[in-house]
Amino acid sequence: ADEAIRALANQDQGLIDPRIYTDQELYELELERIFARSWLLLGHEAHIPKTGDYLTTYMGEDPVVMVRQKDGSIKVFLNQCRHRGMRICRSDEGNAKSFTCTYHGWAYDIAGTLVNVPYEKEAFYDKKEGDCGFDKADWGPLQARVETYKGLIFANWDAQAPDLKTYLSDAMPYMDTMLDRTEAGTTVVGGMQKWIIPCNWKFAAEQFCSDMYHAGTMSHVSGVLAGLPPEMDLSQVQLPTTGNQFRAAWGGHGSGWFINDPSILMAVMGPKVTQYWTQGPAAEKAAKRLNQMPTQTMFGQHLTVFPTCSFLPGINTIRSWHPRGPNEVEVWAFVVVDADAPEDIKEEFRRQNIRTFNAGGTFEQDDGENWVEIQRVLRGHKAKSAPLCAQMGLNVPNKNNPDFPGKTGYVYGEEAARGFYHHWSRMMSEPNWETLKP
Ligand code: FES
Repeated sequence: ADEAIRALANQDQGLIDPRIYTDQELYELELERIFARSWLLLGHEAHIPKTGDYLTTYMGEDPVVMVRQKDGSIKVFLNQCRHRGMRICRSDEGNAKSFTCTYHGWAYDIAGTLVNVPYEKEAFYDKKEGDCGFDKADWGPLQARVETYKGLIFANWDAQAPDLKTYLSDAMPYMDTMLDRTEAGTTVVGGMQKWIIPCNWKFAAEQFCSDMYHAGTMSHVSGVLAGLPPEMDLSQVQLPTTGNQFRAAWGGHGSGWFINDPSILMAVMGPKVTQYWTQGPAAEKAAKRLNQMPTQTMFGQHLTVFPTCSFLPGINTIRSWHPRGPNEVEVWAFVVVDADAPEDIKEEFRRQNIRTFNAGGTFEQDDGENWVEIQRVLRGHKAKSAPLCAQMGLNVPNKNNPDFPGKTGYVYGEEAARGFYHHWSRMMSEPNWETLKP
């Protein structure tokens, strides 16, 4: 069975079996072997700054509560009462001293310890008097491992998984282009935006990992042209063709960017953000801090940390693709900005994200339309019978760009997609982290 799974995504030949996007059994295996074993993005430290602040979210399809503790640490536990399985917390976010299950009233403190059971003595009997062996200490919700990277909060159910930094590996410099431009780090502007797209989660995650091709060829071209300043002569506009793609040496992460051409950033975020990102004191400070990476020359960067954490540095949308069966994904997106940016810049990042990369955003529609249509096509029998092509750049001699760390190639390529699916197939076919570790 594991051999058959590996054959579904063949990186040596650049072939993808379309059934990986539709098969219910494979999806159930993804929940177990990918979503219960990978580091998953849950939110930002700024979402829960004070003791008792919480956010309810998901790890795969498992609902979880993420809570700030008295000592400043963060706990993440399954949002499931151990009595009969009701949600422990039913609101999106807030501040709590404890969580009380609305079914029979079991109460948990903010660390997830079961602290009160109604009629405990009368109904479960006192231990000393001979009883049914019930002990509250045994019945806290399942706890996940929690680690942070430069403001982002990740969690993992698997005790055997490597620590977060080992997991992120050589993708970290490509995350830093958004997260580490200033010693102040980032903060969140605006709320968590949530919407549902009837498509498989991998279309979204893989595109953010590897696919600049759609942006420079078809999908976003009308949006780019419409978004450029009206005084620009559109007949003179050429879409950028110079840039690179990065494939992580391990882990399925990937990124890509154009070089030296700000037209995409200008079209998406407007002149104010483009100027802030590329010129002036904030940009100069970022260039110094990120000296391994010439960020002032990078535009339209996309990135996925396997499996479902994606973001667009410069646009600064960051999202988790929560799977909802093989045919649906729930997007949770928020916007981060340099924490020391002027207020008008923070507001401009929020405003332009609403306009472009959000539930009703212009560019978001371009992407979603493609993924939804592919998912519809895959309802057909013949549509699932032949492999899809991921051969761009296959077997091309490696042309690393020395300006950027790690393995890089031409911006229009599918090396990162092959890395994404190769790691997917390994996670799906290797049940033990011992063989998966970098
Ligand atoms: Fe939570 Fe019964 S299900 S108290």
